[in-house]
Amino acid sequence: MNFLVLFKLTVLTLAPLLPLLLASLTSSVAQLVQPPWCPTHCGDMKVDFPFGVGEGCGRSEHFQLDCEKNDLGNFSMFVRYTRVEVLSISISEGRARVKSPVYRLCYRGIPTIIKPNLPEANLGYSPFWLSSNANKFMVIGSGGLGGLGLITGTMSKIKSGCMAWEVFDQEILVDSLCSGIGCCENIIPYPSKYFQIYFYENSLPASVFNTCRYAMLVEANNIFKFRTSYLISPESFEKDAISLLAVLDWTISNDTCNIAQQNMTSYACVSSHSKCIDYNNLGYHCSCVQGYQGNPYVPSGCQGTSNMCQSLSLN
Ligand SMILES: *[C@@H]1O[C@H](CO)[C@@H](O)[C@H](O)[C@H]1NC(C)=O
Ligand SMILES: *[C@@H]1O[C@H](CO)[C@@H](O)[C@H](O)[C@H]1NC(C)=O
Ligand SMILES: *[C@@H]1O[C@H](CO)[C@@H](O)[C@H](O)[C@H]1NC(C)=O
Repeated sequence: MNFLVLFKLTVLTLAPLLPLLLASLTSSVAQLVQPPWCPTHCGDMKVDFPFGVGEGCGRSEHFQLDCEKNDLGNFSMFVRYTRVEVLSISISEGRARVKSPVYRLCYRGIPTIIKPNLPEANLGYSPFWLSSNANKFMVIGSGGLGGLGLITGTMSKIKSGCMAWEVFDQEILVDSLCSGIGCCENIIPYPSKYFQIYFYENSLPASVFNTCRYAMLVEANNIFKFRTSYLISPESFEKDAISLLAVLDWTISNDTCNIAQQNMTSYACVSSHSKCIDYNNLGYHCSCVQGYQGNPYVPSGCQGTSNMCQSLSLN
């Protein structure tokens, strides 16, 4: 219901998802308290309200995460109706960390395109946004023009990306330095509901550094750094790529705080000592006021961080 406009757009871009999105339209009544029987964890990952695993456990169906167990007994959690894998959710920051989508284009002797894994995601009705300030877009490869297609909260379609120029002389490459040669990076211009990663051309590069190209979203905090070896050895990239993360922001609804506070039945910041935080005019989330910590989405969820504050919060 919250993303009615995006829905129209979804029809155009992701027709196969249509039945799922339609199904999700039917049950989006806000649920203000989590029933006591709801699981608190998916495997060893903690899941706090407004999110939930299991039917009826999220604030609405859109806050329900799919918890799946594989044959090895490992648990994974996914944003509903997507294969975006959630690794952790921060209630206080309004953020989530997800496995980073990497687009790979590899040549093994004869040109062979290795199918990319999850090069796009439609976060449509979900509370999630691809965070613009917590991520960057990165291309690694010798001569690779990587593209990033986005659909923003105002429904604009944006294309951005960057060009990693061809490497002719390995001597000029330096580990940790994404210089524009063999590696380039770019900001994410706007918070987005839909992203798609691709390459502009698929031709075989001429130089010897021609094994693979990668285009991906990574956390902007520079934990992941370019290494010269990535250009020569796909194994060296894949070893580090396992732990690559991207950041999603999330909002309670598409209302601003001003609007949301006009209906106290649906307003999500229910704890005393909680406050509302606007998100780029695209929605809001909640937080505990200074001196308090905990979950602003449940009654008495915000607790004082010192003994003195604690006794105040009990009043
Ligand atoms: C928010 O979503 C509702 C539908 O749930 C829609 O009518 C409204 O226009 C949206 N507001 C904005 C600012 O996008
Ligand atoms: C989960 O997977 C990891 C490897 O990714 C493995 O080391 C671990 O034993 C698995 N856990 C279970 C419960 O099977
Ligand atoms: C306030 O929110 C509740 C719960 O979502 C809804 O049923 C009700 O219609 C809303 N009231 C107004 C005046 O919009």
